Amino acid sequence: MDVMQAIEKRYSCRSYHPDAIEEDKLGRILEAARLAPSARNQQEWRFVVVRDEHTRRKLSVAAANQDFVAQAPVVIVGCTMTDRLMRCGQPSGVIDTAIAMEHIALQAVEEGLATCWVGAFYPDKVKPILNIPDEVTVVELMSLGYPADEPVGTPRCDMPKIVSFDSWQF
Ligand SMILES: Cc1cc2nc3c(=O)[nH]c(=O)nc-3n(C[C@H](O)[C@H](O)[C@H](O)COP(=O)(O)O)c2cc1C
Repeated sequence: MDVMQAIEKRYSCRSYHPDAIEEDKLGRILEAARLAPSARNQQEWRFVVVRDEHTRRKLSVAAANQDFVAQAPVVIVGCTMTDRLMRCGQPSGVIDTAIAMEHIALQAVEEGLATCWVGAFYPDKVKPILNIPDEVTVVELMSLGYPADEPVGTPRCDMPKIVSFDSWQF
């Protein structure tokens, strides 16, 4: 599968089979995160891989009761330890962690698995569940597992609406 095929196949999966994820597959998925780029190559990200069912249930409650978070056999919690702002004013840790999480999502497709980004969660509820220290930022949760649904085909803007060449022409 080439990169564009993985990009086209990825979708937000909200229903999962209970089957566990093979260790070798999970290993390659995490390796995709490890190899992601980061500002100044700081790699100030940490990934908590949650497989325990009881913990996933608690995470699903902390994620505004999104049931698929408990249903997925794995939930990856992407965190960053830095709140450094880059010269552009943007937070490097959050951006870096988000890039790594999308690496996870694309490698998951290659492995025949599916994911869903989860931004609807309460960090103050997630942190005590996983013993995450106060100073750490929880960036995203990502469910991971064998899909039990089909992509619904979410629309995207046409290219001219989102791209202009040489100057801002929107
Ligand atoms: C940062 C981010 C946060 C998201 N949070 C949630 C979420 O909490 N729950 C959910 O069901 N989907 C969530 N999504 C999935 C989006 O709804 C989805 O990506 C979008 O509708 C496009 O659909 P697709 O991923 O199937 O292409 C999130 C996506 C992103 C990128």
